[in-house]
Formats: sequence, structure tokens, C-alpha cells
Amino acid sequence: KKAEAWSARFSEPMSDLVKRYTSSVFFDKRLALVDIAGSLAHAQMLAAQGIIAHEDLAAIESGMAQIRGEIERGEFVWQLDLEDVHLNIEARLTALIGMSGKRLHTGRSRNDQVATDIRLWLRGEIDRIVDLLAGLRSALIDLAAQHAGTIMPGFTHLQVAQPVTFGHHLLAYVEMFSRDAERLRDCRKRVNRLPLGAAALAGTSYPIDRHAVARTLGFDGICANSLDAVSDRDFAIEFTAAAALIMTHVSRFSEELVLWISPRIGFIDLADRFCTGSSIMPQKKNPDVPELARGKAGRVAGHLMGLLMLMKGQPLAYNKDNQEDKEPLFDTVDTVVDTLRIFAEMSAGITVKADAMRHAAAQGFSTATDLADYLVKRGLAFRDAHEAVAHAVRICVDRGCDLGDLSLDALRAELPAVAPLLGDDVADYLTLEGSVASRNHPGGTAPDQVRAAVDAARAALAAE
Ligand code: ARG
Repeated sequence: KKAEAWSARFSEPMSDLVKRYTSSVFFDKRLALVDIAGSLAHAQMLAAQGIIAHEDLAAIESGMAQIRGEIERGEFVWQLDLEDVHLNIEARLTALIGMSGKRLHTGRSRNDQVATDIRLWLRGEIDRIVDLLAGLRSALIDLAAQHAGTIMPGFTHLQVAQPVTFGHHLLAYVEMFSRDAERLRDCRKRVNRLPLGAAALAGTSYPIDRHAVARTLGFDGICANSLDAVSDRDFAIEFTAAAALIMTHVSRFSEELVLWISPRIGFIDLADRFCTGSSIMPQKKNPDVPELARGKAGRVAGHLMGLLMLMKGQPLAYNKDNQEDKEPLFDTVDTVVDTLRIFAEMSAGITVKADAMRHAAAQGFSTATDLADYLVKRGLAFRDAHEAVAHAVRICVDRGCDLGDLSLDALRAELPAVAPLLGDDVADYLTLEGSVASRNHPGGTAPDQVRAAVDAARAALAAE
């Protein structure tokens, strides 16, 4: 009995080690249902074109229905000896329906078959991830809406820079995740092309109808060149690049969550169910979920590098190297899906400690720029205003106080050159509320702008 689908060519059986090394069934069985869908579309086209008989098609359809049931019920027996998902299913089909099963592979190769399977599978996963991104965006938008006026320090170089609103800060992440969704939708266009019909590499001599197969499977069109169709994995790389960027955004957010939850900073609290304790230090509540997500971002970026390296040396057309595309791609999808799911849930459970945020914003001279702007509005050139305020900050640093702690008289005494410009109203410009409210233009941090941005973000989500 021949063990392999192609073994008549060979004079000795494959060694067990080589079998294990070359087999992919224990990971590519994940493609089983799309493999069946692709086979059915192919068989329907073969029958419509008179390449196989309608009786063959009927047998293939009933055999595949049974196989699908076996797989869904977990009864299907996957065999390492049969190498991959494609040969496992084809062998079972032939065992069930005989000769008609042997006709299924007419005008097709595993090379165009596997490329079709990955595209079909990835298309579904892209749609799922776009949905999950929408869920996370929506959770962040809701939180931003509650905190349109909550003041926190904005940072540059991890030093207090200027006051911002927490809602504004959260909406920065909403922007990132919106671009991620846009990138995936764009990538999907290039995923959604049909390789079938390319056969092994050169096309096939049967009178096939590739456009009909594309329509049946919901592809937007066919891959235009048979050599490219079987050897292209750009779409997988593009997807993984988009996924790596999603994880990069999640990782930046994670880093902030870890800082914010640290008792040293204490801006937020995370629900207990997203944290763990320490086995030795009883006081600990560790933000394991954001820390793990930060770590997993590295793993997905690694998959991107792996796929780029996989492709860089391959001559046209198909090479077995390509079998190595699946594990990184599957793991990328699993990692992104789990991460987005957990982050949507976790974001909804963030408790904001507004007092701590406000207190931190009130330190570190966060309204120094506002004082400089005040002087400019009274006629001073910005560079001179900058210099005068820097001088005032220096005095505060020496005295261990903040700008707002200096009385108007003290301020005038320390800054004689600009004293005539300092009016009674200067204190209003040094308040945190005055500072954020004054940045009142599209894209600014003023609470009114945050509320407008929340509405715009919700409308954009609803329009998708
Ligand atoms: N398991 C293979 C893969 O993942 C299917 C294509 C095999 N084609 C071949 N000529 N060996 O790429």
C-alpha cells in the first residue's frame, strides 16, 4: 500500500524523522474548514465546465459534508503519514466516496490550494480583528467621555510638561487603533484574491473558469499571474506588519498602565481580576496583563521578521519554505485576538484617581508655558517671555515651591523687566483648568474639544 499521495515515484519509504520534519498536519489542520470550502468551489467549477461529471460533484459534496461533521465533532482522525491538511481530507474523501474523490484534484495543486486556504482563513480573521478593534475603541471612547475634563499631567521625556485632560490622552490611543483598523481593511483587499487555477505554477490545460471560483468563494478577483499566485506571501507579511503595529500600540498603552498603577504614581487602579499577587510580598498587586501584552508585542514583531526572512531568498515559484508561513501567522492572529479582547474588557474596568492626577499636574511647573503665552499676549516677544518665565521657574526651584505659589507681588519683584505686564488676572492663566480650557481648537486638549472628538470618534465607528 502506498503511504504517500506521490509515492509511486519512490523506491524506498520516507524515514520517520523526515516524515515528522516535513509534516504540517498538526498545525495546518486549522485550515480544514476553508480547505473544504475551497475544494467544493473548485469541484463545482469542474462540473460546470464539464471537466468532471455532475455525479462526481454530488458525491464530493456529500463526502465533504460528512468530513466537515467529523471535524466539527472532533472525530476526524488526522494522520501524520498524510503530511498535511489537504492530503488528509482528500484521502478521507476517497475512502468515503471512491473514484469521485480521486477526481477532485483535477487541474489543481496543493500549491494553489494552500495559498487559497490561507487567504480565505486570514480574510475571516481580519474581519474578526477589525471588530475587536472596534470594541476596544468603543471602550476607550466611553472612558474618554467620562473624563473629558479630568486633568492630568501631560509628559515629554517622562517629565511633567503641560496639563492635559485624561480623555484627550485616551483619545490618542483611539486614533492609533482607528488607523490600525484602516490598515487591516486596506490589507484585506490584497488578501482577497484567488490563487486557485495557478495549479502547481504554470496554470492548467483544463478549460477552467477562475472567475466563477472567485465569485463562489467571495474573492474580489483572481491573482493575475500563476507564478505569483502560488509563491506570493506579501499579504501575510502585510497583515503581520499591521498586527505588529497593533501590538506596538497596545504595548505603549501597557507601559502607561504599568506606570499609572504603580503606587509611586497612582493615577489609576485596575480591576483585581486583571492583576496577580506576589508569592512572597503580601502587599503586591501586579499589572500582569499589561506587562504580558508588552512582552507579546515583541513576539509578534518577531513573527514579522520571521516571515520577511522566510521570503527573502526564495526563487519563483513555490518552495516548501512556504509551509513555515503558518505557525507565525496563526500565532500572530491568536496573540492579537486575545490581547484585544482582554484590553477592551480591562479598559472598561479602569478606575481613575482624579485627585492624584490633578496633584501631579499641579507640580512640575506645568503652566510655565501659559505664563509665557500670557506675556506674549501683552506684547512681549515669545523668546523674551520664555526667558523671563525660565527665570521665575529657577527661583521656584531654589525655594522648593511652584509657580502658582508665588504671589503677584513676589512675581513682579522677581521679574522687574516684565512687571508692568503682569496684571491681576495672571493667576487665572496659571490654573490647570485655565490652561487646558485655553487649548480650544480641533485636536487640542480643552474639555469642549475632547467632547467633540468623542462624538466624532463615535460617529466614525458607527459609519464603519
Ligand atoms: N503543506 C504545504 C504548505 O503548507 C502544502 C503545499 C505543498 N506543496 C508541495 N509541493 N509540497 O505549503
